[in-house]
Amino acid sequence: MPHDKTKLEQARAYEAREGAAIPASDRPRLHLTPWVGWMNDPNGFCYYRGAYHLFYQYHPYDTKWGPMHWGHAVTRDLLHWDYLPCALAPDTPADALGCFSGSAIELPDGRLELLYTGVSGTNESPVQAQCVALGDGLDFEKLPHNPVIPSRQQPEGFCEADFRDPRIWREGDRYYCVAAGRHKENGGSIELFESRDALHWEFVTVLDASRDTLGAIWECPDFFPLDGSQVLVVSPQSIGPVEDPEIRPGYGTLALLGDYDAGTHRFERRSVQMLDHGMEFYAPQTVLTPDGRRVMIAWMQNWETSNDAPRRHSWFGGMTLPRELFVRDGRLCQRPVRELESLWQDEVLLRGLTVDGDADLPRLAGRYLDLDLVLDAAQSPDCRALTLRFACGGGLFTQVRWEADRGELVFDRSRCGTRRDIPHIRRIPAQPRNGKLTLRLILDGECAELFVNDGERTITALLDTPLQAEGISLHSDGAARVDIARHTLA
Ligand code: FRU
Repeated sequence: MPHDKTKLEQARAYEAREGAAIPASDRPRLHLTPWVGWMNDPNGFCYYRGAYHLFYQYHPYDTKWGPMHWGHAVTRDLLHWDYLPCALAPDTPADALGCFSGSAIELPDGRLELLYTGVSGTNESPVQAQCVALGDGLDFEKLPHNPVIPSRQQPEGFCEADFRDPRIWREGDRYYCVAAGRHKENGGSIELFESRDALHWEFVTVLDASRDTLGAIWECPDFFPLDGSQVLVVSPQSIGPVEDPEIRPGYGTLALLGDYDAGTHRFERRSVQMLDHGMEFYAPQTVLTPDGRRVMIAWMQNWETSNDAPRRHSWFGGMTLPRELFVRDGRLCQRPVRELESLWQDEVLLRGLTVDGDADLPRLAGRYLDLDLVLDAAQSPDCRALTLRFACGGGLFTQVRWEADRGELVFDRSRCGTRRDIPHIRRIPAQPRNGKLTLRLILDGECAELFVNDGERTITALLDTPLQAEGISLHSDGAARVDIARHTLA
C-alpha cells in the first residue's frame, strides 16, 4: 500500500510555484541553494542513471529549520544544478517528526534506495531510527515496516534520541552503513551495521568514539578509503577543549585518518584534522565519481552561526562547490572539481609581478571568479607580509594576509559589511611549499572558498557584501614576487 502523499504533493506544488518566483540573480551562480525555503545537510549524494543526484535537508515553507523534508537536485557536470521535486516529506508514523539526514545507493535491480533517519515519538522525547524509501530517482515509496534499523538494535548504553545520519556503501556482496550514535560514557560514537540486501541490518561494531573530547555527537559520518588511508569524516557538536590549537571548539567537521581492516572491521585512528577552517562549513558528504574521484560537498553554513544569520533572500542555506579529495603527506586535501576550469573566461595573467606597498589590480576585479596567486617566497626574502583584498568597494573588503615570520594566514571578513557579532577572523598555519605559497580563491557572489597550498587547508565563508564591491588589491610589506592567474566564472 503506497503511503498517503498529501504532504509531499503540497510541498511539490509549493516549491514549483514559489521557486519560480525567485530570480536567478538572487542566487549564487554555481553554489546550490534550496529551491525555496531552508536547506541544511547534503543527503544521498550519488551517481545514478548518468547524473549526480543530491538531496538535502529541506524545510520549503520557511527560511528557518522546521519539519524536515528531502529536497532534490541533479547535475551532470557538478556545476549546474536542476531542481527536481521534493523527494521525501515527514508523512508516516516512522518519520512523523522529520526525515533527517541519510544517503543513497543503487540496488542491483536498478532502484535507488534512500536510507535516512526517521524521527518519531514526541518533540520532548524523540526517537531516531533508520528508514528506507525505494524509487526511480524521482518518486520514492517508503517501506511499510520502517524503520529498518530501530533504535533498540544499538548496543547497551546508546540513547534512542540521538541515532542518525546513516551513510551506506557496498563492499563485495555486503552492504554497510555507519551512523551517528551517542553513548552514555563514550559520547559521540560511530556505529557500523551490515546487511545482505540493504534492507535488513545487523549491528557490527563501534568504529570510533569521541570519549567526550571531540564532541557530544558525531553527526553525518562518512567513511571511505582514499590514497592508501581510511578516512572517517564526522561533524561533531560541541567539540573541545582540545590540545591541538587547529581544532576549534563548537560545531566543526573533522577528518580522522587511519587504517581499516575490512575483515575484522577495526578502524585504527592515526590522526585528526579540521576539515575546513572557515565559518560556514558542516556535514559534508562524498560521492565516488565514475572516473574514480572522491568528490565532497558540504553545507555552506554552520549551526553555530546560522540561527543569527540575516535572511535577506527568500531562501536560506547553500552548498559548497563540489571538491575533489586526496591525501598528501598524511593530510586530507581538497581542490575544487576540475570541471570548474571548463567555465573559465576572460583570462588575465600577471606573471613575475613585483609588489612593494599597495598594488591596485583593476583588471582582476569581479565577484564571479577563480583567482590563483603564487607568492615566490624563496625569491622574496624581504616580504614580511602579503595581503590580498577582495570584494572591495564602498569602504568594504575581505582580506587574507600571510605573515611570514609567524608562518600564518589570517582570513578576515570583519569589514565585509556584516552586522553580526559572530566569528569573522580565522588564523591558520601556512608555510611555503617548495619555496612557494599558493592561494586559490573562488568567488561566486557572496560565497568565498579559499584553497591554501593546493588544498592543504581550506577556508569557506559567506560575505555579506553587496555584489557591486568587486575590487581586488594586493599589499606587500617588503618586495614580493607574485604570479597571478584570474578567470571569470560565467
Ligand atoms: C546535522 C544534523 C543531522 C540531522 C539533521 C537534521 O546538521 O543535525 O545530524 O540529521 O541535521 O536536519
